[in-house]
Amino acid sequence: MKRISIIGTGFVGLVSAICFAKKGYEVYASTHDQTKVDTINQGLSPFYEKDVAPMIKEAVEKGNLKAVLGREEAVLNSDISMLCVGTPSRPDGSIDLKYIESSAREIGEVLPKKDSYHLVIVRSTVVPGTTRNIVKPAVEASGNKIGEDFGLCMQPEFLREGDAIYDTLNPDRIVIGEYDKKSGDVLEDLYIDFYGKDYLENCPILRMNIESAEMVKYGNNCLLATKISFINEIANICEIIEGVDVTEVAKGVGLDFRINPMFLGAGVGFGGSCFPKDVNAIVAFAKEHDYKPSLLDAVLSINLYQAKHIVEIAKSELGGTLKGSRIAILGLAFKPGTDDMREAPSIKVINHLFEEGVTDIIAYDPYAIENTEKIFGDKIKYVNSVEECLKGANAALLVTDWDEFKALTPEIFIENMQKDSVLVDGRRIYDPKVFGEKLKFKAIGLK
Ligand code: UDX
Repeated sequence: MKRISIIGTGFVGLVSAICFAKKGYEVYASTHDQTKVDTINQGLSPFYEKDVAPMIKEAVEKGNLKAVLGREEAVLNSDISMLCVGTPSRPDGSIDLKYIESSAREIGEVLPKKDSYHLVIVRSTVVPGTTRNIVKPAVEASGNKIGEDFGLCMQPEFLREGDAIYDTLNPDRIVIGEYDKKSGDVLEDLYIDFYGKDYLENCPILRMNIESAEMVKYGNNCLLATKISFINEIANICEIIEGVDVTEVAKGVGLDFRINPMFLGAGVGFGGSCFPKDVNAIVAFAKEHDYKPSLLDAVLSINLYQAKHIVEIAKSELGGTLKGSRIAILGLAFKPGTDDMREAPSIKVINHLFEEGVTDIIAYDPYAIENTEKIFGDKIKYVNSVEECLKGANAALLVTDWDEFKALTPEIFIENMQKDSVLVDGRRIYDPKVFGEKLKFKAIGLK
């Protein structure tokens, strides 16, 4: 089985497409956006992600990857379709499934023109029940019979931005939610072929029902988001006590093998296209079903608080007001390695600064300036280097933990910022002993 269609050419879709193409599969990437078709077929990437651009070029040149407009060519020429379309948030935080429904219907409309069995796999993150109650009837709407004409699976993805290719090629488990055994067998065979039996010895394939697989993704992202808000709550408590440092506490806690050290990095909180959206979506889902998820509500409110908190720290260091101050923002992207500004903590930090009456905000980020300009326009200033950003600032807020910032010395801050200015480390990348000795230094999780 070597022919795959990927429905949706966003982050998950395109990364999956090029990974299948790299392993020699014949891949059709389907979109409704002609510009994207042209971009991909020219061997270019529509967005920045490590390793993606050269892999698209190679896949297109080898003839393994073709972007196509609409669903027909993609579905007709493949045996498996992976549904990777966007699931945006509604204003109340709940998930909007309109693209899932319409794309499933479009796949269904093509299937009567095919005479072989076709497997439809939902890869987008969807609330439990979506695959069975929305995708299945939408594919069936054109007269297709499940079990005969098509099969159905839900397989959540666990890709991190910045490491998406690595994560696709090196998963720690594969979760297959299957409508029936035949669907699951076809998908398992695909991955046995893709990863090889040796790799799969250490990467279990978990087969379960569709709803459990849908829920695995939410369980996963909610737990990671909870770890972050948990350590941020601990960090805020650490700030009450002289001499306690949350980074030491997190190290001590994380070495318990039942916990592990990952995602215990305190700071301005989580952003990105997944954690905020997924936690909000499952909270809204639970409430629609009359359950109040108080832990997840708290995870979200702690996360909101962290962005305000870093501004409060600066305010208190500058004598109780930020009015008239120049504030430098180091880092805008929601995390290093990407230009993605979706739900980036920097947006909340900057909005809190506006609320405090700050009019002089200067921002620097190695990749995300263009995307930030789309949000704030000329309400803040953008510069091309750390030095320009710090020049004359009364406070510097470190918001994204780029390697470039980790390499900075206290001298760079001292030489460029105003006298009596403060550096607030919102990602805990600086050694407080080294920085605290030479300049006014504050950090989340440290009094
Ligand atoms: C996440 C999940 O890791 C991935 O499995 C899922 O499929 C999509 O969502 P991603 O959003 O790319 O991936 O980024 P991730 O590296 O998980 O970081 C998310 C946010 O949490 C970032 O804003 C990051 O700065 C923040 N974070 C992460 C912390 O604040 N502290 C930490 O210790 C780790």
